[in-house]
Amino acid sequence: MNAVPGTPAIAREALIHTLYEAAELEHNLMCTYLYAAFSLKSGTAEGLSAAEAAATARWRREILRVAVEEMGHLTAVWNITSALGGSPRFGRLNFPLDPGGLPASVVVRLAPFSEAVLQHFIFLERPANSGEPDGEGFQPEYTFRRGETRPRVTPMPIDYETVGDFYLQLAKNLKEFVARRGEKEVFCGDRALQISRTEIDFQGCDPVICSITALKAFDAIVTQGEGAAEENPDSHYCRFLAIRKELAALKAANPAFEPAHPAAVNPVLRRPVRTGVRVWLENEVAAATVDIANTMYMLMLRLLSHSYLIPKPHPAKALCIDLGLGLMRAMAPLGERAARLPAGPSNPGCNAGMSFTALRDAAPFPPGGSAGKFFIERFAELLDGARTLLSISDGDARVVQSVRILEDLAQKAERRFASAESAPVTLGAPATQSQVVPARAPAPAPVAVAAPGGDADSGASHIEPGNLAPTPRTVDGVDYIEGRDLTLIYEGGKCIHSRFCVTWGPKVFIANVKGPWINPDNMPTDALAEIAHVCVSGAIRYKRKDGKPDEQAPQVNLISVRENGPYAFRANIQLDGAPGFSHRMTLCRCGASRHKPFCDGSHNEIKFVASGEPATGKADMLAVRDGPLAIDPQTDGPLQVRGNMEIISGTGRVVARMEAARLCRCGASANKPFCDGTHARIGFRSA
Ligand code: FES
Repeated sequence: MNAVPGTPAIAREALIHTLYEAAELEHNLMCTYLYAAFSLKSGTAEGLSAAEAAATARWRREILRVAVEEMGHLTAVWNITSALGGSPRFGRLNFPLDPGGLPASVVVRLAPFSEAVLQHFIFLERPANSGEPDGEGFQPEYTFRRGETRPRVTPMPIDYETVGDFYLQLAKNLKEFVARRGEKEVFCGDRALQISRTEIDFQGCDPVICSITALKAFDAIVTQGEGAAEENPDSHYCRFLAIRKELAALKAANPAFEPAHPAAVNPVLRRPVRTGVRVWLENEVAAATVDIANTMYMLMLRLLSHSYLIPKPHPAKALCIDLGLGLMRAMAPLGERAARLPAGPSNPGCNAGMSFTALRDAAPFPPGGSAGKFFIERFAELLDGARTLLSISDGDARVVQSVRILEDLAQKAERRFASAESAPVTLGAPATQSQVVPARAPAPAPVAVAAPGGDADSGASHIEPGNLAPTPRTVDGVDYIEGRDLTLIYEGGKCIHSRFCVTWGPKVFIANVKGPWINPDNMPTDALAEIAHVCVSGAIRYKRKDGKPDEQAPQVNLISVRENGPYAFRANIQLDGAPGFSHRMTLCRCGASRHKPFCDGSHNEIKFVASGEPATGKADMLAVRDGPLAIDPQTDGPLQVRGNMEIISGTGRVVARMEAARLCRCGASANKPFCDGTHARIGFRSA
C-alpha cells in the first residue's frame, strides 16, 4: 500500500476504524434506549392511572423494539466489518462519554425516561432536514470539530451532524475504496464468519458479500432509524414523535403524571473520580443488582464476539448467540429492578440504574477449547452471584425471573459447550445411524404400564398376564420389548395417543390390558416397523435384529402444524443439542404442557384453539431438504429451529420452506406458527 500524505486517504484501515465508530454509536444508542425503557413505571400499582399504565406499557414495548432494531444495525455493521476482513468491534467507552469520542452534537449518557430524554432521542434519530432541538440538558459540554481535512495515513474521525449523515459519508468512502481496489479485493473476509438469519432473526443479519449488499445494509439502517424520512411512520424518529404526542396529551390531562422512576443519570458502581456527573451506587442491594446485570451484559458481548470467530453453520456459533440473547432476557428484569431501588444516602430521591459497564476488551478467545471452559466457568460464577443477590432481594419477582432464566442458560452452557465446540460436522451434514436410537444400559426392572386406547383400571375387558406378551425391560421410563426380529421400544411419557398402534396393529398393541401389553411377534416385522413410522410422537421406535436397516432419517424434514394441537416433527432431530431419541417428535405449541418442550396432551384440557391451516408464506424450494434439524427451546420463549425444514399444515399443504424459524410455543402469537414476541407480554414461563 502506498497511502501517504497526498494520496487518497480512504484505506481499509480507515474504513474499519469508521465502522468501529458506527458499532460504538449503535451500541451506545441501544444501551441508552434500554435504560430509559427499564425506568418506565408499570401498572397502577406504581401509581399510574389505567390509561397512563397502558401508555407506559406501550412505550416500553416500543422503545425496547427500537433497541432491538439498534442491535440489528449493530449486527449489520459487524457483518460489514467482517466482510472487509476485520474483526468486529464489541467494546465501547463507558457512560457518560467524554467529549471527542463522538461529534460534539452527539451527547450520550444514561438517563431515565422523561420529556427531555425523549426529545434527545428524537434529536439523535432526526432526519437531516429536521429542525428538532436536542433535549433540555443534553447540550454538549464543549463545541468542537473533529477530523482532519488533509489526507492522513492515520485513520481520522469523520465529523457529522446527524447519524444519517455519518452513514452517507461511510458509504461514499466505501464506494471510493471499492472503485480503487475492486470488489473481490475489498470483500475478502470469510463469509461464513458473519452472523446470518439462520442464527438470529434480526433485520441487518443479511450476508454482506459485495458493495451492493454493504450499501443496502447502510441504507436499511438509515431508513429504519437514524435520518429516516420524516413520513416513514415506522422509523425510530416517527415512533418517538408518536410517544411525545401521547405523553403531551397525558400530561395535559394530569400535570402530575410521572411516567418513570427517578433512575440515576449515569450510575456507577465504584466511587467516581470526577464527581458531579455520575451517581455512585452506595445502596448494596442496588449495587449487587447492577453488578449482576452488568456481568450478564458483558458475558453477552463476549459470547457474540466469540461467535464471529466460528464459521457457520456450526452448533457452537448458534450456541454462543442463543446464550448471548438469553442473557439479554435475563438482564432486562434486573435493569428494571435497579431503576426501582434507591441509589444511596448521598443521592436522596434518586434511584439506581444499570450502568452497562463495558469490558476493557471483549475480543474473542483463540480457537481451541479455552472459550468453552471460560464460558462454563463464567456462567457458574454469574449464577453464584445471582443466587446471592436473590437471597438479599426479598423474593422480588424480577430477580426471581432473572435467576430462573440464568439457571437455564448456565445448565445449557454446561451441557452443550464441550460437544458443540468439538463438533466437526456442520448442520448440513448427514446424520449417522448411531443418532437414531441413543444407547441405553439395559436394566431388569419390569413394571406394569397402561396401554393406550383405554384405561388399565377402567374395568374394561382385560387380558391378564399369560397373554404371552413379553415382559419389558424398563430403563429411564422407556420400555424395551424383545421380539424375535426386533426390539420394540415404547416411551409412554412421549405418547400423545394418536392410536395408530392399537388400531393398525391390535394384535401387537393390545389395548385395555393390565401388565405387559405389547407383543412384537404378533405381526410381520416390516409391517410393525411401518406402524412405528406413523407414530407421530416418536413414542414407538424399534431396533431390528434381523439385519435389515433401522429407521432412516427422512429425506425431507417436515414440521406439521396440527389443528388445535402440537407441532409434529419428522426430521433428523437434534433437540437441545442432543441427537433426537427418534426422527419423530411432538412438541407443545399451546404453552400448557407439564412436560415441555414435549406435548403431553394438555392442549385438550385447555381447549387450545389454533388453526392447523396457517397461510402459505415463503415457500421457495430449498436446495437441500434434509440434514440435521436443531431445535433449541428458548427459556420462556419460542422454539428456535435451525436446519432445512418444510413447515406444512395439518392437511399437508406447504406453509413455508426455511432454514431457520422461531416457532411459537406460548400459544398466544398472533402470527402462528411463528413467534411474534407475545410470549414476553403475557409472561410465558417455559418451566
Ligand atoms: S413463543 Fe409465542 S409469541 Fe413467542
